Amino acid sequence: MGKKPQKTKELLLAIAEASSTGDEMQQQPQPQPQPQTPRKRGRPRKIVETEEKKGQELAKEEEEEDTESQYQKAKTNDKEEEEEEEEEEEKDLAAGLFFYPAEPTSFVVSDAFEPDFPIIYVNTVFEIFTGYRAHEVLGRNCRFLQYRDPRAQRRHPLVDPFVASEIRRCLEEGVEFQGELLNFRKDGTPIVNRLRLKPIHDDDGIVTHIIGIQVFSEAKIDLNSVSYPVFKKTGDQKCDHSDAYSPISGQSPFSLHQELCGILQLSDEVLAHNILSRLTPRDVASIGSVCRRIRQLTKNEYLRKMVCQNTWGREVTGALELMTKKLGWGRLARELTTLEAVCWRNLTVGGAVEPSRCNFSACAAGNRLVLFGGEGVNMEPMDDTFVLNLDALNPEWRKISVKSSPPGRWGHTLSCLNGSWLVVFGGCGREGLLNDVFVLDLDAKQPTWKEVFGGTPPLPRSWHSSCTIGGSKLVISGGCTDAGVLLSDTHLLDLDAERPIWKEIPTSWAPPSRLGHSLSVYGKSKILMFGGLANSGHLRLRSGETYTLDLEDEPQWRQLECSAFTSMGSQSAVVPPPRLDHVAFSTPCGRIIIFGGSIAGMNSPSQLFLLDPSEEKPSWRTLNVPGQPPKFAWGHSTCVVGGTRVLVLGGHTEEWILNELHELCLASTQDSNTYL
Ligand SMILES: Cc1cc2nc3c(=O)[nH]c(=O)nc-3n(C[C@H](O)[C@H](O)[C@H](O)COP(=O)(O)O)c2cc1C
Repeated sequence: MGKKPQKTKELLLAIAEASSTGDEMQQQPQPQPQPQTPRKRGRPRKIVETEEKKGQELAKEEEEEDTESQYQKAKTNDKEEEEEEEEEEEKDLAAGLFFYPAEPTSFVVSDAFEPDFPIIYVNTVFEIFTGYRAHEVLGRNCRFLQYRDPRAQRRHPLVDPFVASEIRRCLEEGVEFQGELLNFRKDGTPIVNRLRLKPIHDDDGIVTHIIGIQVFSEAKIDLNSVSYPVFKKTGDQKCDHSDAYSPISGQSPFSLHQELCGILQLSDEVLAHNILSRLTPRDVASIGSVCRRIRQLTKNEYLRKMVCQNTWGREVTGALELMTKKLGWGRLARELTTLEAVCWRNLTVGGAVEPSRCNFSACAAGNRLVLFGGEGVNMEPMDDTFVLNLDALNPEWRKISVKSSPPGRWGHTLSCLNGSWLVVFGGCGREGLLNDVFVLDLDAKQPTWKEVFGGTPPLPRSWHSSCTIGGSKLVISGGCTDAGVLLSDTHLLDLDAERPIWKEIPTSWAPPSRLGHSLSVYGKSKILMFGGLANSGHLRLRSGETYTLDLEDEPQWRQLECSAFTSMGSQSAVVPPPRLDHVAFSTPCGRIIIFGGSIAGMNSPSQLFLLDPSEEKPSWRTLNVPGQPPKFAWGHSTCVVGGTRVLVLGGHTEEWILNELHELCLASTQDSNTYL
């Protein structure tokens, strides 16, 4: 399809290069995907012909000796072959292979343009180690190594399905894979395969081939004494021995249940991979609590991670990865689902944000808090940037030196995109209201604010609200114009686009115009708007209403009719009092928590309210949380760090003392051995 063929020499050199990192694999057996260009379909003829010919020649050879002598012969054959090569390109290959002569490497090459990655070349070492001859495997996908018998129709249950699905994902995304899985020689002998899959790109960056490099070693398992495997258990997971396989009876305890329930006749692999991994963490916990076999299957970190990832998305689970090192996915999922460990903590940090100010905007970039601008003494619009690194032993506020800054402002928004970009929009500057956009990459060697010109921007405004979607899209809504008019529009700017352009989100109806409201993101593309000071006829009133908007397909604002929930344990149903300038954030499970802001009457701004907008009939509940909450909390002074920590800057007195932080911890910070 008009794609440039990959030159044989380049391909072979790539093999030599790829097979060089066996040591790396030893240290990092887990899959290590690297971003690459996703593959496209098409067929490079030349390489296929060359490789198929080579494969057929290899297939003609007869190998009758035992493995040891075959191994020796392979070395000799490889050497002879290299000597016979005539052209310059073969010399290069020889140089590449001789550079790593210690172990002959098994490798195969697959065509990335054909469906299911058929093998177009295997080397002699592969043939020797696996017992499969080239002519038996050319044109096939390499998964036959996961079958114990050459005639088997499916993967052996001992082969970890999670590794197989990780391979599938890496191939789909065109990224490198490294990992370990169980394979079988043609005669059924189990072998451990430390596998590395490396995509090869043509000059246009398109993946044309995949090289698979196998480092085989003996698998120390007795297949005859294992019937139902429970997938590799990780770390210090406790095993419920009452469920374990009994080598004496030779019978799986699960077989006792098989007559009772059809679902339990399924293999562990099918149950775990095809059923459990598609459920929510809550469902997995529930089903595990009523069935011992399933409980046993759920004691697996891969499964738990997959369940969380399916439910919460890759971005959220990525942000939680650090937390799981302490708690494990099972415990973290439970705590985030039940919110049983939620508590308030106080935190004192060093450094200073000077001159003192209010009406600044802050957000989190990874584990760093960033603060920009604000209203200084005598209404001075500030233009400085401060960072607080919470990973540091003694975190302290530091002003970062930047070449140039956006004009000073307050009542703006600061948002974080792609983990390290900070985006300032709008606010009130020295000359009036603003609608400019500035971006700074916090990870750059010399962080610099750069203005982004995005076509026709929204009207200048302040006290609007913003959120970020899909890592790179900034959404802003509402706010107040220079003339004091409240706005109801919603705009989106994709900062990953080559030329970012503001787009107004067209909806046939919008919630009443407002300022000081909150936008929170849940699901992949949904936004929840709550509260604010909203137009209500001729009046402006605090709002307690909730609206949702799904940015996918045809976005339409919808008002959520949140019913009252009857009391259950420490959670009881209350509709949160109307408010503006409050705090709202989404938990990793997609529930929204609000608190703080300006509220009329005697209600406490520290009271926490929780809503699950994806429920069929969503209802607000109060959350009673131990610890000392802040007396005040204002929207843009609150940041969500690492997915489980909500940091409120200042807020204990009317002054903004930015060294006294309140932290709402959604998950416990101590290690524990209890699991789902
Ligand atoms: C070039 C190449 C080499 C591969 N080598 C192996 C291998 O040695 N052993 C193995 O179990 N899987 C290997 N695979 C992975 C399987 O072919 C297959 O992609 C994987 O099992 C996931 O797909 P599936 O779940 O549809 O089987 C290789 C794949 C490619 C593209």
